[in-house]
Amino acid sequence: MGRTSMTRRYRFCAAHRLHTHHLSEEENWAVFGKCNNPNGHGHNYVVFVTVSAVDEGGSSSVVSLDELDRIVADRIITRFDHHDLNLDPEFVSKTTTGENLVLLIWDLLVTQLPAGQLRKVGVIETRDNYFEYSGPAPVGAHS
Ligand code: NI
Repeated sequence: MGRTSMTRRYRFCAAHRLHTHHLSEEENWAVFGKCNNPNGHGHNYVVFVTVSAVDEGGSSSVVSLDELDRIVADRIITRFDHHDLNLDPEFVSKTTTGENLVLLIWDLLVTQLPAGQLRKVGVIETRDNYFEYSGPAPVGAHS
């Protein structure tokens, strides 16, 4: 049986620099290229949040659009918009790649929504780069 879902789009602008302390300056440049530029650079990130459109758990309620907007604003937009991602506490020891960002956003949202509600998180970083993750549970991939 098919399942229906609802996807809502959000946006934030943030700066970052791809760099890891685990590598030397030369190795960082070799791996990340111009994204390793010490001055950093910005992206207009687009975040897609997909939630169940119906209550499939039988016990939890379906999140309303207003509630979803409030949660995303509180947990994601306020935290990242016009910030330097490299200064975020969760990125102290992790590189600010799209993969790590989508995992962090998943974890920040999944604990705020009724169980089973969050289906998928997608992040557009550049015109040609899109990252996505779908649960089931908190990843805990970040420190
Ligand atoms: Ni970048």
